[in-house]
Amino acid sequence: MGRQSRIVGGSSAAPGDWPWQVSLHVQGVHVCGGSIITPEWIVTAAHCVEEPLNNPRYWMAFAGILRQSAMFYGNAYRVGKVISHPNYDSKTKNNDIALMKLQTPLTFNDKVKPVCLPNPGLMLEPRQACWISGWGATYEKGKTSDMLNAAMVPLIEPGQCNGRYVYNNLVTPTMVCAGYLRGSVDSCQGDSGGPLVTLKNSIWWLIGDTSWGSGCAKANRPGVYGNVTMFTDWIYRQMKANS
Ligand code: ARG
Repeated sequence: MGRQSRIVGGSSAAPGDWPWQVSLHVQGVHVCGGSIITPEWIVTAAHCVEEPLNNPRYWMAFAGILRQSAMFYGNAYRVGKVISHPNYDSKTKNNDIALMKLQTPLTFNDKVKPVCLPNPGLMLEPRQACWISGWGATYEKGKTSDMLNAAMVPLIEPGQCNGRYVYNNLVTPTMVCAGYLRGSVDSCQGDSGGPLVTLKNSIWWLIGDTSWGSGCAKANRPGVYGNVTMFTDWIYRQMKANS
């Protein structure tokens, strides 16, 4: 294990590497990740904010801090609103996306910056290289990591991800798969809600939010992410209605 074993099979992040990544805490404990899209809005997973955690009072957001142990000293942002996708299904994880509105806006700097929402027409390669990041477990059933970690994972085509020996049609159009069918690199418990991003035309785009997987980094069990492209309209409408 050691230095090369982070997220699962990734490496530790350097300051400013993933400036849109936030850590979402409940009672001083990291619970989920999220992505900054504006000074006030965070994208996360709906399964992170299931009742009673749909109450914004439970949550604090930390931005621009790499170590969980340093967040105690950093400034915490209160959450004013939690909006879960109305068609989220807790059983199938269909539509696993939610928004949090901060009570006070973030100040952007080298370490705190937003990620772009994809346009519905954004063309990606079938195996486009993407990146996942988070403080999740570094091995299946492990504990959350003190350090922010990241790894490269290619997209996996829906047909392949729904294959008989993979997820056998559990992957819906509101989901996107990324990882390796041989296993070994993946997101894991505690990474949920955090980003799956890609670099295209020199811009980082939010392609997914970490949603589910069977175990972590197992062969034929890649990570499944909320398909953010399918939610951009919904996100813009929520931001408008709650500005
Ligand atoms: N549901 C998990 C969480 O709450 C994320 C699981 C991702 N699993 C995976 N094998 N990619 O943190």
